Amino acid sequence: MTIQPPTTVRVARRGPLRGRLQVPGDKSVSHRALILAGLADGTSTITGLSGGLDVRHTRQIMTDLGVQIDEGEAARPGDPVGLLTVTGGHLHEPRHTLDVGNSGTGARLLTGVCAGQPFRSVITGDRSIATRPMDRVVQPLRAMGAQIDGREAGRFTPLTISGGNLRGIDYAPPMASAQVKSAILLAGLFAEGATVVREAMPTRRHTEEMLAAHGVDVVTDQVGNGTVITLQPGPVTPGPFVVPGDPSQAAFWICIAAAVPGSDVTIDNLYLSRERSGFLDVLLAMGADLDIDRAAGTVRARGRELHGTVVTGARLPDLIDEVPALAVAGALARTGSLDFQDAGELRTKESDRIETVAALIGALGGDVRAENSRLVVHGMGPDGLQPGTVVSHHDHRIAMAGAIASVAMRQGDVVEVDDWTCVETSYPGFLDDLERLTSA
Ligand code: S3P
Repeated sequence: MTIQPPTTVRVARRGPLRGRLQVPGDKSVSHRALILAGLADGTSTITGLSGGLDVRHTRQIMTDLGVQIDEGEAARPGDPVGLLTVTGGHLHEPRHTLDVGNSGTGARLLTGVCAGQPFRSVITGDRSIATRPMDRVVQPLRAMGAQIDGREAGRFTPLTISGGNLRGIDYAPPMASAQVKSAILLAGLFAEGATVVREAMPTRRHTEEMLAAHGVDVVTDQVGNGTVITLQPGPVTPGPFVVPGDPSQAAFWICIAAAVPGSDVTIDNLYLSRERSGFLDVLLAMGADLDIDRAAGTVRARGRELHGTVVTGARLPDLIDEVPALAVAGALARTGSLDFQDAGELRTKESDRIETVAALIGALGGDVRAENSRLVVHGMGPDGLQPGTVVSHHDHRIAMAGAIASVAMRQGDVVEVDDWTCVETSYPGFLDDLERLTSA
């Protein structure tokens, strides 16, 4: 893989956003579509797949594992690919190291898949992946019978996995993580006996929903505030996978449009499950003017003055990736603070997002406090942020959150983002969409 030099972008002040948009295919669903289509014995189709680099890595890995993937060309680089045909069901030992790039989802889910296979595979990724905790999946997968070795006794990549001969487990992850749940369930497909995952706080359900839609016996029960997912081993059936637009990408446009008076933005084709749309509840609690049509998958945001609110730890899994975008909206609130409490999981993302979000807001003249597991962003008013240079720390969501702050600035102001290349991981067409929403 070629190493791209960091590219600094300068985003000039935009003013209120207006227009209607479809965002790229959902990254979480795209990874799962490629994995499940690759496991299914026969031919599947995928439409709307994310064109981001993270998903391209998962696609390459499925190919390395013996899956055949053919596509019609995307119109522009980064556009959702058209129709993808996937012929899977017969994985074999890969000749190469499996490189997930920057993708934590790829790393965790594919470790689960490989743990179920009767061969040896090695999973690695970029510098950021090498710092992200893998013991959260390694421990339960070892308890299922997989042999996994890795740096610092399996805490970090590279991981060497000798899979197969698994038995189901009954496991309660100590952290709220859809990636951990999914890794265990995917391994459970190949285990003997049922696999049970008990979540104290529910996380995104894409894996369970997509498995159930493709013939797997998987049941989710509500227990108190949590969920218990029970999966029986068995084959995944091939068929069509349709990837909706990504609410985490839509959040950048919705958050900034809601916070900048005069904006009027509509995003279509979203799958707004509870576990992916917590950011909308936070915006509503901040006083945002939103029209949400969950059945149609459409959100319209019109700008008005916002105020702060508290986001408790219980709501964090429902908006875990949207904190950078919400923080920018919080900094533009007329009154109060946006207070993320019990938010320690933010430290395990593409960057330590308690520190990097705080640095981003601080670099633009905002008032922010980072604590151990808390992030408090004080509202400065809709024109309270100033031009500055945002350090992305190679984290796509920090880079994009910096770029949207330009919308709220004064004529002539510029936001500089030091290393824009990372946006390739999820939203290569981000700047084109920004242009579209400002020229509408
Ligand atoms: C994801 C789950 C989340 C999220 C990540 C995508 C997924 O991670 O932050 O971007 O697709 O399962 P955790 O489940 O580890 O919080």
